[in-house]
Amino acid sequence: MDKFIIDGGEKLYGKVVAQSAKNTVLPLLAAAVLTDEQVKIRGVPIINDVENMLRILSEVGCKIRRQTHCAIIDSSNAVSHEIPTRLTKELRSSVFMLGSVLTRFHRAKISYPGGCDIGLRPIDLHLSGLKRLGVEIVEKDGYIDCKADKLTGAEILLDFPSVGATENIILAAVKAEGMTVIRNAAKEPEILDLQNFLNAMGADVRGAGGSTVVIRGVKRLHGVDYTPIGDRIEVGTYLIATASCGGEIQTEGVPPENIAALLHKLRENGCKIHIKNDKIILYSNGKLKSVDLVETMPFPGFPTDMQAQYSALCTTTKGTTLIVENLFETRYRYAAELKRMGADITVRGRTALIRGVEKLHGACVTASDLRGGAALVVAALKAEGQSSVLDLSHIDRGYADFEGKLKKLGAKIRRIRV
Ligand code: UD1
Repeated sequence: MDKFIIDGGEKLYGKVVAQSAKNTVLPLLAAAVLTDEQVKIRGVPIINDVENMLRILSEVGCKIRRQTHCAIIDSSNAVSHEIPTRLTKELRSSVFMLGSVLTRFHRAKISYPGGCDIGLRPIDLHLSGLKRLGVEIVEKDGYIDCKADKLTGAEILLDFPSVGATENIILAAVKAEGMTVIRNAAKEPEILDLQNFLNAMGADVRGAGGSTVVIRGVKRLHGVDYTPIGDRIEVGTYLIATASCGGEIQTEGVPPENIAALLHKLRENGCKIHIKNDKIILYSNGKLKSVDLVETMPFPGFPTDMQAQYSALCTTTKGTTLIVENLFETRYRYAAELKRMGADITVRGRTALIRGVEKLHGACVTASDLRGGAALVVAALKAEGQSSVLDLSHIDRGYADFEGKLKKLGAKIRRIRV
């Protein structure tokens, strides 16, 4: 498996333009089977999760054409309601296919989805929401078999504002008979983007971005040509790397309100941040102070997907930071690797206490999940000496041309293909 060799200690200077958000593109691709007309999605990042989702679409019978950064999906000949098991194991977002395939075929069969190993990640909220729409579900031998002669709108109250459950229910409700109301819906910007995409196909979805989403079922959806929003987690990762190493970065394509919680913390750390429309300019002298507490929360709180990268920054800030991970149970696997670089981290359950050290030193470390892997890169960029970051398959799930974009900022990073 590929690895990065990183010579740390360089300050970062330059500009980064956001890739389209992975967490938008994946549900949008799943939504392509809702119509038999052509769906064109622009700015599709070349990352493993997207490639796997395209493979799933192709195995259910869709025709896929790739142009540079564009995916064109024609699902007029889609035939299968069964999502191939080997791909669902690779990709948790394969679960979105439940909602869209049910809408298309009134039947969907999928094995329990995989994805990053960061906790239990149940899908009970997805399934209970679908049941409210009239879906019969049989769970047997590791498979979820869903049938609905008719999907009917309903009131659904989510026990927790789950991003995936909100999206899945929207996908199953767009053509259901009558009105569906989702209360305590997740408010992430990616859900608003899914709403905009579906409405551009002729759906009637309102309220996304707030906690109540109302979907009035329509008879038919048509094709669409759509550019998704920029990836706030990708941009946040480059901002954190620059904040940690020192330097000046301008990011484009993510409105600051989508990463306000992170910008707030980085300002507290001592970074100077200027905003111009969807441009964020961050300046750091590389000598930051710690903030006391960071707790991950659903949007607009501090995103769990930035927790690992931000913790990497905290390893060299002056003072002590308490991190509380409220979303996923085992999201600190990177901590043991950061310790190899000299970090001082104590993990107990959902909390991590990070005491800032003077400097990190280069080490050989292994990524074990997507954002944890990115955190190791952030730390290696700051560390004195050379580091190797192994098992890039995790990082390649979410960052298109990670090393290329970092090199342009002045980082000394190269990929060794193994
Ligand atoms: C999505 C994002 C992921 C991000 C997460 C939280 C995509 C493709 N992935 O994942 O990057 O880290 O949101 O912002 O968009 N839960 C249940 N039952 C369910 C569903 C979720 O208990 O049926 C729990 C989870 O275990 C977790 C919490 O709800 O504790 C949040 O999960 P959820 O918002 O569903 O995350 P994902 O949609 O999996």
